[in-house]
Amino acid sequence: MTPAAKDRVTNDRVKDRAVKHQIEERQIDELRQTIRHHEHLYYVLDAPELPDAEFDRLMQELKRLEAAHPELITKDSPTQRVGGKPAEGFPKVVHSRPMLSLDNAYNEQELRDWDRRVRESAGNEKLEYVCELKLDGMSLALTYQNGHLLKGATRGDGTVGEDVTSNVRTMRSVPLSVPASVLKKGGVPADFEVRGEVIMPLLAFERMNEDRERQELSKFANPRNAAAGTIRVLEPNIVAQRRLDFYSYFLLVDGKLYPEHHDDSLKALQTLGFKVNANHRLASDIDQVLEFIAKCEQLRDKLPYEIDGVVIKVNSTRTQQRLGFTGKAPRWAIAYKYAARSGTSRIEDILVQVGRTGKLTPVAALKPVSIGGTTVTRATLHNQDEIDRLEVKIGDWVMIERGGDVIPKVVKVISDKEHPRGHKIFHMPERCPECGGHVVRVEGEADHRCVNTACPAKLRESILHFAARSVMNIEGMGESMVNQLSSRGLVKDLADIYELNQEKLLSLERVGEKSAANLLREIEQSRKLPLERVIYGLGIRFVGERTAKFLSEHFGSMDALMNASVESLQEVDEVGPRIANSIQEFFAEPRNRDLVKRLGKYLNFKGEKKQRGTALAGKTFVITGTLANYSREAAKKLVEDAGGKVSSAVSKKTDYVIAGEDPGSKLDKARELGVQVIDEKEMEQLAKAK
Ligand code: IVH
Repeated sequence: MTPAAKDRVTNDRVKDRAVKHQIEERQIDELRQTIRHHEHLYYVLDAPELPDAEFDRLMQELKRLEAAHPELITKDSPTQRVGGKPAEGFPKVVHSRPMLSLDNAYNEQELRDWDRRVRESAGNEKLEYVCELKLDGMSLALTYQNGHLLKGATRGDGTVGEDVTSNVRTMRSVPLSVPASVLKKGGVPADFEVRGEVIMPLLAFERMNEDRERQELSKFANPRNAAAGTIRVLEPNIVAQRRLDFYSYFLLVDGKLYPEHHDDSLKALQTLGFKVNANHRLASDIDQVLEFIAKCEQLRDKLPYEIDGVVIKVNSTRTQQRLGFTGKAPRWAIAYKYAARSGTSRIEDILVQVGRTGKLTPVAALKPVSIGGTTVTRATLHNQDEIDRLEVKIGDWVMIERGGDVIPKVVKVISDKEHPRGHKIFHMPERCPECGGHVVRVEGEADHRCVNTACPAKLRESILHFAARSVMNIEGMGESMVNQLSSRGLVKDLADIYELNQEKLLSLERVGEKSAANLLREIEQSRKLPLERVIYGLGIRFVGERTAKFLSEHFGSMDALMNASVESLQEVDEVGPRIANSIQEFFAEPRNRDLVKRLGKYLNFKGEKKQRGTALAGKTFVITGTLANYSREAAKKLVEDAGGKVSSAVSKKTDYVIAGEDPGSKLDKARELGVQVIDEKEMEQLAKAK
């Protein structure tokens, strides 16, 4: 080939590459728009149009394209919701305008008095109110600059809050950016602030607590504590899993409510893509407000989240200004609080339930009482310490509260003329009520446990865990089925599930041919589930859904996991000595090894090992400043894929600091400690090295 021809070929190649790049850039952009549209339908409007699998496929495709073009990754890409975690705690943020709280009204009279005061102070003008649900969560302020989410902050003391941006970004009902065309449509400038409530829906709350129980972590008392606790977790991927939701109720521009009427703000927020609770109304007098309050009280038990009242706001911002504030609350708004969902009843007995881990829970058997539309006959007393703290005796009258938690709890003993005290003192049994096995209380622990490994209650609970939807998903293997299977001796361990047949099932009560066939089909289908589910299903102490996934990805097979040392277990993401020891103890027990071997005949014991390079194994990196060709996430991925770890703070243990443009104080720290500083070229070379 002549030099000129060679040049032409090279030129064509360069052009081809540029065209391909352009096409992929457009593809990335279109994919992002499609994904955002479906996120909005799903998380904001609650009206999904795509099956989950199809949505996941779009997301995977975007991730693949972005991995091939890390330079095209933008902060507002749907793939970038989980990013770096805050280095140490959450920095403080001063609010553009204080985040106030509300005065409360507890009955109609107090509300009418407030309405009269408002009308008197506002002059003679016609007043309108906007009524909204009072969501039981925690308030947040989101700052947008140039249409992009800049900051998310908690209320804090009202003047200064905490910067929880990295966690807020994981919430899918919070738009990461609002396009200029949409801002125009909503009539909102590109710099604005949104305030609202972060909540944890009841279903997410229950799932999270179940998972925590399995991992023997303490449970959250109610969805509000769970939401408030989660938003302050220093690990954005944990926040992402917990499914928080955000409802907006204020729009501010230049620190002032915007535009002139609150109902227009709500409309604008909706146009911008924020979630606005559909249960709100404009009321032209206090009677209409009271109607709304009564209607929502009926609705309360049917809502998928907790509310504790209704918030009433004066619609006109001009009138709001005229009314002003008293101390910490505006005069132009008030919270009408519903009565706490509690009731009183008498404890007829205290029963003891045995859980999967052998934990004994005392439960009060109550004289039936209706609380918030549900008949309550049982309330938990948690453990002996709680019984001692409350000084509860059998026969006592008690107050019971129904929080977001499914199980009501006893909150205090009532003692007056009509409610005489009970006399019978309760003691934790020395023998397990299920199997007669020994009960022990480990020093320093609040719980009593049955130590008999063959306790039928433990077996029942472990089968229920194994069959649960998020585990092996065996529909039809509910409580009554499991009770029968275990009491008839048809299932004595988890592997027996796979040895069930039509004949065995038909010998049970209330099981016909059809339901037997259905159950067998479900059991058959569970055999296809991936290794991570099987690991989770074993019910190893402290091994939840997430840890099981990491274990499966790291070891790639049940055999490798079974024979792993405590040291090698600790190489797995998020596995520390406590979890590693628990896994090793589990597999050290010959009965467990036998069970796992038998399960191996039926289930998937091979997983997909996530291939990680070894070039950077054991090395810890810290990134500072802006890299020219990599986003933070892309650089992190490069290091991790080569077996290295990325940490957020420089310490003596750091091997390398990767410094880009405008490095922060981490560079000074690295120099001070004598840590090697490299640039991104050197990072690439290290990652590629054999
Ligand atoms: S307005 C100055 N609207 O209730 C105005 N608050 O008890 C204060 N809340 O801190 C906020 N739903 O966390 C407003 N629709 C709603 C609300 C709401 C729940 C919370 C919020 C606030 C607390 C005051």
